[in-house]
Amino acid sequence: MKILVIGSGGREHAICWKIKQSKLVDTIYCAPGNEGIGQIAECVPIVPGSHEYIQRLIYFATTNRIDLTVVGSEAPLADGIVDHFRKANLKIFGPSRDAAIVEASKVFAKRFMSRNSIPTARFQVFKDAQSAVEYVRDVQMPVVIKADGLAAGKGVIICSRIEEAIAAINNIMVERIFDEAGSQIIIEECLIGEEVSVLAFTDGEHAVQMLSAQDHKRIFDHDKGPNTGGMGAYAPYPGFTPQLYDLIQKDILEPTIWGLREEGRRYVGVIYLGLMLTSSGPKLLEYNIRFGDPECQAILPLLETDLVEIMLACMESRLNELTIRWKHSSALCVVLASGGYPTSYKKNLPITGLDEAEKIKDAIIFHAGTGITDDKIVTAGGRVINVVACGDNIPQTKKLAYDAVSLINFEAVHYRKDIGDRAIEAARVK
Ligand code: AMP
Ligand code: GLY
Repeated sequence: MKILVIGSGGREHAICWKIKQSKLVDTIYCAPGNEGIGQIAECVPIVPGSHEYIQRLIYFATTNRIDLTVVGSEAPLADGIVDHFRKANLKIFGPSRDAAIVEASKVFAKRFMSRNSIPTARFQVFKDAQSAVEYVRDVQMPVVIKADGLAAGKGVIICSRIEEAIAAINNIMVERIFDEAGSQIIIEECLIGEEVSVLAFTDGEHAVQMLSAQDHKRIFDHDKGPNTGGMGAYAPYPGFTPQLYDLIQKDILEPTIWGLREEGRRYVGVIYLGLMLTSSGPKLLEYNIRFGDPECQAILPLLETDLVEIMLACMESRLNELTIRWKHSSALCVVLASGGYPTSYKKNLPITGLDEAEKIKDAIIFHAGTGITDDKIVTAGGRVINVVACGDNIPQTKKLAYDAVSLINFEAVHYRKDIGDRAIEAARVK
């Protein structure tokens, strides 16, 4: 088979890496890819946001006889890439535009959770700033304020004081810092607990959870500083019992998949449940319509089953016929970011030590934002390199991952030193 992967980050590198192990696959293309992806796939220079982006991808897939396309990020899915590919008789893995609405509109997602009795934070929807401000003056802090539409992961603001809440409402609804994504907002209860990412494969009727994972969203150690796309992850989450799997399956995942199907929004692909494990059980914070980044980089190295076989089973509505197997070990991913990320940072800085780090047994180097200048691998984004290690347990994988991290360098490199510590602490308390 010929496969086309769409995207250019560490997640897409991990997807290409896993697909490369498939016996079904001869050639992998990635649009646009990055330097690391270029070592295992053929990169195609079609970049998001470019003129007629989806049409160009369809033209490429048609003329190169691509057998299956896999989409990494949410934006093309929310734009209906799956519907466009299907119309052109091309096979593509991911939800249609109708199903992708669970990430594209947080208001839709919350109302959908309500009508399907899926446990989530109590919430109210507002269409105008004035009534939102009146509401926050009356409720207890903290509250969480969310822009309705896609806002590149920045549309959620946790407010511990009324002034912060009013500023957030004004920024989103009046200043429109997220454009039309802020035409409606949600104000919701702030939940307390451990956050866990549970991703699942689904064919629209059956859903199988992957190993659980924990993301590290803040830029600095001990969850300090602003939110980022994710600074590290590990899998599985140590507190994840079979009982918790069953509870999530029964109360959250199945009602989601079946509810969507009943509403004529059959969901095929990877669905990501962002969960808070509260004292009154798991509650759903949000849906994402694709693999998490960097969760994907920690999860896929533990997957034993052929990823392409799973994707085909989802698309052919026979996921129940497949047994998905996982390694009984752990994986941990550390993100090396450009100094200054998530705001402004320099690009084009030479990266050293990648070859040495790659030689470490059980360490995998995924590229997230890299490019090439004068034959040298250089930084080309905020999140630059993902170092993943696999081992028997989290302490061992943590040591291995940081041994590999210590070999890699570029000017002003920043990474968190505490990835894995929450798991180690949770295991100790247990
Ligand atoms: P989202 O984009 O919905 O995942 O939100 C981004 C982050 O905000 C989540 O990963 C949580 O850490 C946090 N968050 C969202 N909703 C809530 C909530 N109701 N209570 C506490 N934290 C939340
Ligand atoms: N790691 C969070 C996300 O992919 O949205």
